[in-house]
Amino acid sequence: MRIVTTFPLPDAAVDLLRPLGPVGGPEGWREALADAEALLCLLTDRVDADLLARAPRLRVVANAVVGYEHVDRDACRARGITVTNTPDVLTDATADLAMGLILSAVRRLPQAERSLRAGEFHGWGFWDYLGGDLGGRTLGIFGMGRIGQAVARRAAPFGMHVIYHSRTRLAVEDEASLGVEWVDFDGLIARSDVLSLHAPLTDWTRHAIDADALRRMRPGSYLINTARGALVDEAALVDALRDGRLAGAGLDVYEREPIIHPGLLDLPNVTLLPHVGSATRETRTRMAMLAARNVHAVLTGGAPLTPLP
Ligand code: DGY
Repeated sequence: MRIVTTFPLPDAAVDLLRPLGPVGGPEGWREALADAEALLCLLTDRVDADLLARAPRLRVVANAVVGYEHVDRDACRARGITVTNTPDVLTDATADLAMGLILSAVRRLPQAERSLRAGEFHGWGFWDYLGGDLGGRTLGIFGMGRIGQAVARRAAPFGMHVIYHSRTRLAVEDEASLGVEWVDFDGLIARSDVLSLHAPLTDWTRHAIDADALRRMRPGSYLINTARGALVDEAALVDALRDGRLAGAGLDVYEREPIIHPGLLDLPNVTLLPHVGSATRETRTRMAMLAARNVHAVLTGGAPLTPLP
């Protein structure tokens, strides 16, 4: 059984899979699909009907990230191919990064850092480099899945009041234990001092934060995005930041990665990161291992650990 990967696997994953058959890739992975039964892939690999046509024997697509908008699940389903992703194992890393971006935005870290590098730090000054407190501010979470909940848990000890909007509302006991309040989308937009996005990219969420939503955000609020760039109309975000309606933003993801809207690059009040939410050695290893275990399970006739519907 041939297994093909689009990215270098850790040794432990290769050790797990090699007894099942040769593990090919990343070099020449497209060509190797011709007789592959399993594919391990990433969010930068479009898995559509055209790609599947090259892989007549494929049984499993193990997507080694949690987002799956790049995989045509209908096309896979039509061919009887199992699709898996990597939930849970990257929740903490991504929630940590979201908190980092919240702190970065509200405490104005990019402005302070740039000023120091420019030689403008001449000693401690009582009124210099002021940001805001997190304590007492309202954090709005859009998308209350695993990562949204992990951000809510992290925000509470900072003294933030957490409201959320999600297509599926949490059970009342879960809301109580997390200390979060459900609001409708309009309430979320209107009440958040910091709005943090944690929804998957779907037809429903694409451009959820458009020019109209940005206009309705609180003056002086912040937008944080560690989910998917296309949740936000990036051009409208640039306008909202330029005219000062938003005080700042912290972005890890972009509408047309790896292209960054040039307007964002010019703005001093935005932290821009290169999609590093899950980029810790431990987390990336767990993601690769979970993808490998999913392949192993399917090729040995077992149930995949984390299948997508
Ligand atoms: C994902 O898993 O979907 C992230 O964007 C990469 O960690």
